[in-house]
Amino acid sequence: MNILVTGGLGYIGSHVCVKLIQAGYSITVIDNLSNSNLYIADNIRSITGIDFQCFIGDILDKKFLEKIFSVNQFDAVVHLAGLKAVGEAVSDPLSYYQCNVAGSINLFKIMEKFDINNIVFSSSATVYGNPQYLPIDEQHPLGPVNPYGQTKLAIENILKDIHSASSNWSILALRYFNPIGAHESGLIGDNPNGLPNNLMPFISRVANGKLDELEVFGDKYSTVDGTGVRDYIHVSDLAEGHHKALEHVVSKSSQFEAINLGTGFGTSVFELIHSYERSNKVKVPFKISNPRLGDVDSCFAEVVKAKKILGWKAYKNIDDMCNSAFNFEKNRMNFKNGT
Ligand code: WQD
Repeated sequence: MNILVTGGLGYIGSHVCVKLIQAGYSITVIDNLSNSNLYIADNIRSITGIDFQCFIGDILDKKFLEKIFSVNQFDAVVHLAGLKAVGEAVSDPLSYYQCNVAGSINLFKIMEKFDINNIVFSSSATVYGNPQYLPIDEQHPLGPVNPYGQTKLAIENILKDIHSASSNWSILALRYFNPIGAHESGLIGDNPNGLPNNLMPFISRVANGKLDELEVFGDKYSTVDGTGVRDYIHVSDLAEGHHKALEHVVSKSSQFEAINLGTGFGTSVFELIHSYERSNKVKVPFKISNPRLGDVDSCFAEVVKAKKILGWKAYKNIDDMCNSAFNFEKNRMNFKNGT
């Protein structure tokens, strides 16, 4: 089977590509390199020993998409391309709606034109907004509190309406909680450009001496130790969830389902720091600073549906995530453009 992976050179995308190639799928990647680098394609090839097509371009470019679809016969699409920094989305919502929503509409229209109606979509737990109960299941009310989450919910709704209008679409929307860690090879991982927004890449750069200290955004939350609690999931487990979702999508002629991808467990910032220090034998200096606008106390997933529908669950633990993250951090400086 031939699968188009949009955003396939990104953090999640590169791990999904490795899993799909190793599962025997033939893949084609498109990526605009806005948050990735071309050397990632070679690193995916090194890990898998398999070559694949990779086209640099944007889902906003209709001519580019038309060309890709006219010379390839895809059986399904795994759609990961999109902007994903919450803070940036608050300051520049228009770019997020244009790239994430308008770009997705371009993709869906070209899929319709070429009669390709199997898709796995990269959604996010931010569609739930502030948790009204925990763990969060897929029936939890949807109420994004930032433009990034709004774009993900808008795309889910577009896909739901496409399925209502033409029931021959098979669609799974995967709602990620907090993906962290890296592939065991240390060749691919979370390598954001500039100062990391997210906790794990920031901890890794502090542990590796690239940044002085971590700011812990608040320690007065109503949690086990006052710091924010999240559902961290190893990116390789998340990638396997995409493999299972793809198998399910091509096995059914008609569906629309949203499924949580998490571990079902919550971990606080302090617990993550301690696990990172203990499992890597490093120190992570930090200071407590003000809570970050928009942060919630706790957020973790109910994961029964993923087990039931996909036959998937996460296996790796927090120490695995911390070990793999530090291993990648030590390697990433050797890559071209390692910043
Ligand atoms: C985790 C915890 C912070 C940085 C976001 C998006 C979500 C998904 C994952 C795309 C919180 C604390 C963080 C730091 C800190 N992305 N923290 N110091 O905000 O849970 O989720 O990224 O899909 O959609 O919303 O992740 O890693 O930013 O924060 O103390 O320097 O770490 O307060 O409690 P978040 P995060």
